[in-house]
Amino acid sequence: MKIKNICCIGAGYVGGPTMAIIAQKNPNIVVTVVDINKERIAAWNSKNFDQLPIYEPGLSDVVKDTRGRNLFFSTDINSAIINSEMIFISVNTPTKTSGEGKGYAADLKYVELCANQIAKFSKTNKIVVEKSTVPVRTSEKIKEILKSKNKAVDFQILSNPEFLAEGTAMRNLEIPDRVIIGGDNTLEGNNAIQSLVEIYSSWVPKKNILTTNLWSSELSKLTANAFLAQRISSINSLSELCEETGADIEEVSMAIGMDSRIGSSFLKASVGFGGSCFQKDILNLVYISRSIGLEKVANYWEQILIINSHQRDRFANKIKSLINNNSLNKNVCLLGWAFKKDTNDTRESAAIYVANNLIKSNLNLRVYDPKVQPQQIFFDLNYINDNDKKNKNRVSVYDSYDDCIDQTNIIAILTEWDEFKDYDWEKIYDKMEKPAYIYDGRNILEKDKIESIGFNYIGLGR
Ligand code: NAD
Ligand code: UGA
Repeated sequence: MKIKNICCIGAGYVGGPTMAIIAQKNPNIVVTVVDINKERIAAWNSKNFDQLPIYEPGLSDVVKDTRGRNLFFSTDINSAIINSEMIFISVNTPTKTSGEGKGYAADLKYVELCANQIAKFSKTNKIVVEKSTVPVRTSEKIKEILKSKNKAVDFQILSNPEFLAEGTAMRNLEIPDRVIIGGDNTLEGNNAIQSLVEIYSSWVPKKNILTTNLWSSELSKLTANAFLAQRISSINSLSELCEETGADIEEVSMAIGMDSRIGSSFLKASVGFGGSCFQKDILNLVYISRSIGLEKVANYWEQILIINSHQRDRFANKIKSLINNNSLNKNVCLLGWAFKKDTNDTRESAAIYVANNLIKSNLNLRVYDPKVQPQQIFFDLNYINDNDKKNKNRVSVYDSYDDCIDQTNIIAILTEWDEFKDYDWEKIYDKMEKPAYIYDGRNILEKDKIESIGFNYIGLGR
């Protein structure tokens, strides 16, 4: 099928940037991104390109290029479904908070709502592309909904998981390591796969486009995230061992990363991984394994999350010990709230868990993040501890790092923002209470330089 119109349901971190690139690279295809969230769509349509709902380096330039030409953002989901030959489902698939699988399984209610809506409004044949990260065999469920609710139309289902990482999304989309397209091994299935291959081929070399069956494609996405997170938990677990033995995790990481069989990426010790996906996707993998009786497999993958939460606790507990053992000021400055640099996304950020732990011990937090708004910080805290009053009493959020270091002995670095490296640390030292400590949860500062100013520097695993 020649694709002239694409609809993408879900204008989030994946739907927005991915469709912007597809539109840029395929000027002959009209791409309409739709969402139930009116504010989000309004922000995508904002005249001021600094006010797009997502901060991602390079994104606003692509949107500037394409919006109004062949990229459109709308809340009219039904018309977009009717008018397109290909529909991407790119909605959120969070961990279930109730019912069977609560706390582990992926909640597919938004995906199922989309399938129902597509079935209801489709009048012509459609290729439905699963872009959201879903449990293996979800496409079967989607197919069941579509085919049982609309028998007049032929639906082909494809799985095309997204591998972009936030902060580098545009680069990842522009030069993806690979694109995976899973589909049915039938004539119609193969034709649908080819339609999507053609769209990606506008900019991705054919050798980087991998076509598979539906289940392999779905499972590859969960597996890729589990492997990446596993490396972080592995290095983080060793950071604790380093602290006890005198080894330096940065040196160990460099030494093992130079082995070409291991490779150097995702070996950076940290206060813990965050982000909307690692935790939920591993929980999902654990759930799938456990629900089919693979208890040992489930336990193996669950350990990644246990180490991640241990790393966050360890970090917070060390701050508390420092304060108690040295009778320090009970104000703690937290630099960084986003789950990684170059994004305003805070979902599952280690900062939230560390802050919550410190608030529970009645410490006062002075927070600065270059891209995260105060209301988001309070939203995140209220979401995990449901104690708005205490959060407001204990947490102050500042517009600049300069204001949040008053009356503190400790600065804890929670996100690896580049600007933190360039601060005038001598000036900061002068302003802080003494003794002054930096607890670097990302190992981004130069230990010797910082210590020469007078700080007590505590890194991770060193
Ligand atoms: P998001 O929460 O940023 O965006 C999802 C959007 O879908 C929201 O704006 C929501 O309003 C909309 N939505 C939900 N139900 C809808 C419906 N029935 N009709 C219309 N709109 C609806 O989520 P995201 O980060 O873009 O993630 C989407 C999917 O992609 C998830 O499955 C996620 O696991 C996966 N993924 C995310 C990333 C990432 O970096 N964020 C990377 C790869 C894959
Ligand atoms: C991750 C994957 O990298 C993407 O391929 C995937 O598409 C995406 O999840 C998803 O499915 O949502 P993302 O979460 O955006 O992307 O960002 P990452 O760069 O993977 O970082 C995740 C977390 O791990 C961050 O908190 C980061 O600071 C931390 N991290 C990363 C480390 O602590 N150490 C490292 O060496 C690398």
